[in-house]
Amino acid sequence: MNSHAQVRAAMPNVAPTPSQTELRPKEGQRFGHIVSVSGSQAIASLDVALPQNVNRIEIGALVKIAAARASVIGIVSGMSSPMPGEGSEDKEIRLVELNLAGEISTDEESGALAFRRGISNSPALGDMVTYVSRDELASVYLQPKASTIDVGTLFQDPMVPAHFLVDELFGKHFLVVGSTGSGKSCAITAILQRVLEDHNHAHIVVLDVHNEYAQAFGDRVERITANNLRLPFWLLNFQEICAALTGSDSHHDAEVQILSEAIVAAKKRSAGTPTRRLSGKGTAITVDTPAPYLLSDLIAYLDEQLGKLERAQATLPYLRLKNRIEALIADARYGFMFRSVMVEDTMASVLSQIFRIPAEDKPITVIELAAVPAEILDVVISLIARLAFDLAVWSEGRMPMLLVCEEAHRYAPAQDGDKFMPTRLALARIAKEGRKYGVALGLATQRPSELDTTIISQCSTVIAMRLSTDRDQDVMRSNTHDGALDLLNYLPVLGDREAIVLGQGVPMPMRIKFRDLNETAVPRSRKDGFSAAWKSGNIGRAELEEIVQLWRATGRFVG
Ligand SMILES: Nc1ncnc2c1ncn2[C@@H]1O[C@H](COP(=O)(O)OP(=O)(O)O)[C@@H](O)[C@H]1O
Ligand SMILES: [Mg+2]
Repeated sequence: MNSHAQVRAAMPNVAPTPSQTELRPKEGQRFGHIVSVSGSQAIASLDVALPQNVNRIEIGALVKIAAARASVIGIVSGMSSPMPGEGSEDKEIRLVELNLAGEISTDEESGALAFRRGISNSPALGDMVTYVSRDELASVYLQPKASTIDVGTLFQDPMVPAHFLVDELFGKHFLVVGSTGSGKSCAITAILQRVLEDHNHAHIVVLDVHNEYAQAFGDRVERITANNLRLPFWLLNFQEICAALTGSDSHHDAEVQILSEAIVAAKKRSAGTPTRRLSGKGTAITVDTPAPYLLSDLIAYLDEQLGKLERAQATLPYLRLKNRIEALIADARYGFMFRSVMVEDTMASVLSQIFRIPAEDKPITVIELAAVPAEILDVVISLIARLAFDLAVWSEGRMPMLLVCEEAHRYAPAQDGDKFMPTRLALARIAKEGRKYGVALGLATQRPSELDTTIISQCSTVIAMRLSTDRDQDVMRSNTHDGALDLLNYLPVLGDREAIVLGQGVPMPMRIKFRDLNETAVPRSRKDGFSAAWKSGNIGRAELEEIVQLWRATGRFVG
């Protein structure tokens, strides 16, 4: 099958609406000529008399420039009319700004059209500018040799599917930006659903901070909720356990010191027990060794030390640590982490569940974190990101994995501040070194200006949806590497589920519309629903009783 037949096979089976056909200018039709070329930018002047439909040249559309030895493809990135004709269109000068993206040539053997990024034949003044044909569009946007997924259609021509390159998209991190409601979560769902279709042995972990994704993946998803989440506290590194157990006031340093001694003592105590299998004889135990120990041993150590102390003042940090540990053990909300009464080495089973090893027909894990208390959520995300990276390193990159994280600006903020640092470090480490070991990030944020810029610039593919604030747009422009940055000027006017996609995950920059998700797959959105719920009734007294039961069972107020 040549690439065109393949495109047709992949095209959505819908007839174009009359307005779409009318608005589509004829393929190959001339509409202007080049009047300026500088670097990768060019400007075309529109011909004076153009049929009505041809005036519709939109941002993000592709055009073809007949250069001397090749057809150069440009993306429309701006339009202007520096000398508007007064009433008479004849005198009006209309300019179209173009980003030169690549070249199209005909493969000599197969006769198929082939597209290449980069320009080796620069256009010259006067070169003719024409519309691209549907076949040409398809050859630009479909790379038959690479593994691709179709996620929607081109804005320019809804009959041509938009393809992402799987290896490039996942291999080098991607970032989805857009205001709330622009369709970020739906875009991620559209991508992941397609990937799952023919990748049975994927390892995808979604950190679902709003509990909205699980229903989109049917029986292909391992759904981890507050009830079956198991992340034993002894997997935490020292920084993480300090964040969970120590206060942040003047006693902090003393508590940290005591805690480190207590943890080493507790690990040594557990190392002798028969259930212990990890780290063979002779392995030095440090405060960071991911080896099981018991909280009761921590408390016993603290009690021992307390017994030796005489001055009341010196006992304070010990007492506070002990109280905090006891409170966490008693609190049902922390059960997934702090309730374990046996020294049991469950590390392999924890990793197997989260990272789908083996996948067993469920190549994606959605970890629902909405119910995890805010003060421990950072610790949990830090831990999972760190486990992903360490597992990738220890397995020498043999199991490529993708970690999807929404609200990325909350976990990897641009500003230092009182935010929890280990999460940012763990995400930054994957961003910088993950590709060596086959661990990739898929990040989403509505506030890119608050996201760590080094992380943004490590994302090789940017999926930019409607974004209205200037600050956010500036950050995207200065941290994205691609020739077609001008397109980012148009983020405020993009429609719902429309995106400008830049970077290596696509054959070339494109403006697309994500496909329609099945209604049941749409990530739950909390913003709609007032009107419907208020009209049709919502919860009754019996349900309220159940809710109170549940609430009470957790033993504490949420806040
Ligand atoms: N591809 C899509 N298919 C179906 N509905 C969509 C799609 N994209 C967006 N929507 C609609 O827009 C709403 C907001 O999308 P969502 O992805 O939750 O936005 P965001 O995550 O950016 O806040 C969804 O609840 C849904 O109704
Ligand atoms: Mg969302």
